[in-house]
Amino acid sequence: MSFRYIGSKARVVDAILERVGKPNGGMFIDAFSGTGAVAVAASNAGWPVLVNDNLSSSAIMSFARVISEEQVAFTHFAGYENAISALNEASPIRGFIHREYSPASADHCDVARMYFTEDNATKIDGVRKVIESWAEKSLVTKLEEKLLIADVMGAANRVANTAGTYGCFLSKWQRQSRDQFTLTPRALPKLAPPASMSIGDVSNISCTPDDTVYLDPPYTKRQYAAYYHILETIALGDEPLVKGVCGIRPWQEKASDFCYKVRAAKALNNLIQSLPAKRIFLSYSTEGHVAISELENILGNLGKVETCELDQIGRYRPNRAASEAGSLVGEILFCLEKRPQKGRAAA
Ligand SMILES: C[S@@+](CC[C@H](N)C(=O)[O-])C[C@H]1O[C@@H](n2cnc3c(N)ncnc32)[C@H](O)[C@@H]1O
Repeated sequence: MSFRYIGSKARVVDAILERVGKPNGGMFIDAFSGTGAVAVAASNAGWPVLVNDNLSSSAIMSFARVISEEQVAFTHFAGYENAISALNEASPIRGFIHREYSPASADHCDVARMYFTEDNATKIDGVRKVIESWAEKSLVTKLEEKLLIADVMGAANRVANTAGTYGCFLSKWQRQSRDQFTLTPRALPKLAPPASMSIGDVSNISCTPDDTVYLDPPYTKRQYAAYYHILETIALGDEPLVKGVCGIRPWQEKASDFCYKVRAAKALNNLIQSLPAKRIFLSYSTEGHVAISELENILGNLGKVETCELDQIGRYRPNRAASEAGSLVGEILFCLEKRPQKGRAAA
């Protein structure tokens, strides 16, 4: 699955894996997994992986990319494809997504939210309800349920009337938003290295000295919990009290320290100090809250650090003159070999 996720490393994943190298007996932990672009590349390279994100939506979509066909037999449906076909036949329902994220929202608030057409919103509600009932009746395993939820998020993304994030909807229907919401089965590998998933703050991931940890924290003020709120609601299948023109679910409890300029450096220092893993890779941008030189100091105090510039891209500028005057944005990867620590750092 590929979509325009803020900070996705899809473009530079090969360069990251080149530095990470071959499996060495430990696990590859993608601690801020996002879309799972890096985790899936590591899994393809043979690494057992753990994906973690503090958003359920991100952890689930990452996890769905690192599982194999043999783990999701869908025995009750005689296969994954049949389960997807059955979902595509689900009856539309006027549920939460229809009520809050289609123009039907105008029936109960001042704004007609144009995230999805009414038809597509009722399809999303219908499909999500069916998955929930299959899970309740144990017709699907927990893993199969996650895979289907990831497929719903992918299909919803394809018809969302947005410019890439769910921070706001567009005021005119875009061509893709008029397409019909349809699930498509993904191509699963026959076999894959072991994979596991956790949902939660990065400070709670479990890792050992032999694991390799990849950190790709947010580096701007954009809070993912707010920007991807509808995916989170689809993943959780809940009905939160949503507010404002864009109907954003409460997200403050998932606000990330890494998104605040005044907290980011300390949060990174504490995190990297406290991780028991000997090998740590950190992605960061030259446009991030923390200066590259400051990160080099933080990491240099903890062990041997190498700074690799992966890529340079032109920063978005509103017009050509501004663009020509604009600087380049660099995608940096720090590779840290940690010195043995005496004890875990205090937060
Ligand atoms: C830059 S994105 C990761 C992109 C990912 N590497 C990819 O290629 O798609 C950062 C991710 O960190 C997650 N995140 C932010 N704060 C977090 C925290 N404190 N603990 C765990 N995950 C967090 C966000 O939800 C987001 O998915």
